[in-house]
Amino acid sequence: MTRHRCLLVWVVALLVVGVFSGCGQKSAEKEQRTQAIQKQGKPEQAQPAKGQKFLIGFSQCNFAEPWRQAMNQAAIQEAKNNPQIELVLSDAQQDDSKQIADVENFLRQKVDLLIISPNTAAPLTPIVKKVHDSGIPVICLDRDLLSPEYDVFIGANNFTIGEAAGKYVVELLNGQGRVVELMGLLGSPPAKDRSDGFHSVVDGVAGIEVIHKAEGKWLLSEARVRMEEILRAQPEIDLVYAHNDPMAVGAYKAAQDMGREKNIFFIGIDALGGEEGGVKKVMDGVLTSTFWYPTCGQEAVQVAWKILNGEEVEPRIELPTAQILKENAQEWFERLTPKTE
Ligand code: FRU
Repeated sequence: MTRHRCLLVWVVALLVVGVFSGCGQKSAEKEQRTQAIQKQGKPEQAQPAKGQKFLIGFSQCNFAEPWRQAMNQAAIQEAKNNPQIELVLSDAQQDDSKQIADVENFLRQKVDLLIISPNTAAPLTPIVKKVHDSGIPVICLDRDLLSPEYDVFIGANNFTIGEAAGKYVVELLNGQGRVVELMGLLGSPPAKDRSDGFHSVVDGVAGIEVIHKAEGKWLLSEARVRMEEILRAQPEIDLVYAHNDPMAVGAYKAAQDMGREKNIFFIGIDALGGEEGGVKKVMDGVLTSTFWYPTCGQEAVQVAWKILNGEEVEPRIELPTAQILKENAQEWFERLTPKTE
């Protein structure tokens, strides 16, 4: 063996030992912590030692959509308030395979807790089950899995939002009208629930006809293209029900390009604050209404902290929702706009 090769072998050997002893130390620490929490039993006694750090992996389905960015900010802000939490985010870029790899990576890193907002349900369910089965607590946000392979689910009720949208549409159109529905990404449960809730109301009203359903994948650009096609095919449209605000705005822009935006009502969901958010779009008359869908980023970190402290938490935490109309938009704008803007 040349001197160089010999040196290389030593360096690699030292690195391997270093990595493994590091991991061993980490899992031993974790074991001690779990035992401590179990022994102490009572939640108020199960405070982690001062200075002890918890690593939380947050697998986000994408960083590109404004609602996701707001959710990330809320989680990061909450984690900053707690020096014992280290929050690491990963961006799955709306790609199921990438998100599976991200979660596998968190599993390899032996995070203390996983937060996930899945891109779609079916492909992500097995990997989240694997993490949960390994003993790592899991919090699932906003988009559910096929089965509850987690400790806690946090989100608003999408069926109820769809139902409220349906009732409002019937009222707005006086029970008579031609509706286009722009769906979120198929396979992501909120798209199904927002659709089912809406149809549970409008399908029972003879005068309301859903003349076209298209998948806008939650994206403004995609919805805009779909809406251009629909506008060309449909000379009479009274209302667009989009499963989120970006798609409602995309549909509005398509209609505006053809000079038809004034004849159509646009309804969305999300109601972000800020200059680009859905609430401002209601104030500006682009959207007739939107429904508040809280991002649950702050709640996720708060619940994570409770779990890490061994406290009991509800398995399903339902966040509130509300309808925003021109009359109450200003008030909601003030409430939902981040204070830095
Ligand atoms: C962002 C988003 C929101 C929507 C939610 C549903 O990715 O599309 O606009 O309300 O996801 O999961």
